[in-house]
Amino acid sequence: MKSNTEKFGKAPHQPSLWTRADALKVHADDPTTTQPLVSADFPVLSNEVFIWDTMPLRDLDGNITSVDGWSVIFTLTADRHPNDPEYIDENGNYDITRDWNDRHGRAKMYYWFSRTGKDWKLGGRVMAEGVSPTAREWAGTPILLNEQGDVDLYYTAVTPGATIVKVRGRVVTTEHGVSMVGFEKVKPLFEADGKMYQTEAQNPFWGFRDPWPFRDPNNGKLYMLFEGNVAGERGSHKVGKAEIGDVPPGYEDVGNSRFQTACVGIAVARDEDGDDWEMLPPLLTAVGVNDQTERPHFVFQDGKYYLFTISHTFTYADGVTGPDGVYGFVADSLFGPYVPLNGSGLVLGNPSSQPFQTYSHCVMPNGLVTSFIDSVPTDESGTQIRIGGTEAPTVEIKIKGQQTFVVAEYDYGYIPPMLDVTLE
Ligand code: FRU
Repeated sequence: MKSNTEKFGKAPHQPSLWTRADALKVHADDPTTTQPLVSADFPVLSNEVFIWDTMPLRDLDGNITSVDGWSVIFTLTADRHPNDPEYIDENGNYDITRDWNDRHGRAKMYYWFSRTGKDWKLGGRVMAEGVSPTAREWAGTPILLNEQGDVDLYYTAVTPGATIVKVRGRVVTTEHGVSMVGFEKVKPLFEADGKMYQTEAQNPFWGFRDPWPFRDPNNGKLYMLFEGNVAGERGSHKVGKAEIGDVPPGYEDVGNSRFQTACVGIAVARDEDGDDWEMLPPLLTAVGVNDQTERPHFVFQDGKYYLFTISHTFTYADGVTGPDGVYGFVADSLFGPYVPLNGSGLVLGNPSSQPFQTYSHCVMPNGLVTSFIDSVPTDESGTQIRIGGTEAPTVEIKIKGQQTFVVAEYDYGYIPPMLDVTLE
C-alpha cells in the first residue's frame, strides 16, 4: 500500500495529519470543550417531521444571511411515523427509536424561515419528489448568490452511489413568509475518484459527501470542502510513524486502526459559477484515528483558517476515543499545515453522561454553534431515552489562537443572521 507521501506525492500540498498522538489528548468532560447538558424536556420543532443536519443560508464568504429580514435554514428531514403499523412494536407502542434510526434512508431537504432567528416555521421541501436523482438527499450547503435571490444548493445525492451535486433555485419573500422556487434541475458535479478519495468499490462503508463551497478570503478563488475517506482498498491502509505521531512508550500498537481512514477533501472550481470542479488531495487525513470527518467547514478569523468537522465515538480507531461532537484544526494558509485546536482537535463534545445528546455541529463565523438533538436520557441509568430530531440549544465558543472555549448558551435553534440582504 502506498504511503501518504507516495499517494499525494505530485500534489501541490501534502495533507495535514490528525495523528493518534493528537487524539490521545482528547478528553471528554473538559468544561471548556463540552456542550452543556441538554435537558430531556426540550421542545420539538415539529411533530410531523424529524430534522437533523441544519444548513443555514449563507454567502460564499461564510456569512449567515437573512433575506428581507427573514432568516432561512435548510434541514435534512424525514417524516415521523407515529401511526404507521411498520413502526408499532409488539406492545402497540410507537417505536420512535427505530423510526429515527431509519431516517437516513429517506432524508429529504426541507427549508424553514423565521423573523427572529429561532421559532422556525416549516416552509416545505426544497425539491419536488422526483427531482433529485437518488433516494437520499444528504447534507450540503445553500448559498445565496446575489440580490436577485438566486440560491445554489450544493448537496449529496446518495443511493445509488454518492455524488456531489447542485441545484439552482430562488428564494422569494413576502410579508408572510419565504418560499423556494425553481430547484428543478440537479447537476452532478463529481464523485470519489479511487485515487485520492475512496470509492464504494474500494470500501462499501466509504464516505463521500457534505459539500461546503467557499471563496478563499486570500485569493478570492472558489473552493469546496467535503467529507471523504483516503483512497485504497479497505484494510490496505498503512498506519505508520507519521499517522501514529509522538506517542509515549506502550502506545505503538495500532490494532486494527487501518480500517479508519477519514479525510477532509477539497476541490477547486475551474469556472466562476462552480459548475466545473477539480478534486485536490485532502487537506487533512485521519488514517488510523477516525473513519468519519463529516460536514467539514471553515471559519475565517484573525487571518487564519479554522477548519471544523464533526465526528463520532463509534468511528474512532482501536486505542483512541473521544466524544461525539465537533473537532477543529487551524492553519495560516488554506493548504495548511493544520494543527489540532486545543492540542487534541476536540472543540465541543457531548458530556459523557449524555453521549448522544447532540450532533452535526456547525460553527458559524460569529462563534455560535448550532446542532440537533439526537437522544437524551430520561432516567439515571441512561436506559430510557427521549429521541430528539429537533434543534439543540445554540452554544457560543470563543476562538483564540489555537484554543477554543465554551462561553455561552442560547435558545434552541438560535441562528441569527450576520447580514441581511434586501432582494431586488
Ligand atoms: C451527519 C451526516 C452527514 C450526512 C447525513 C446523512 O449527521 O452523517 O454526513 O450527509 O448525516 O443523514
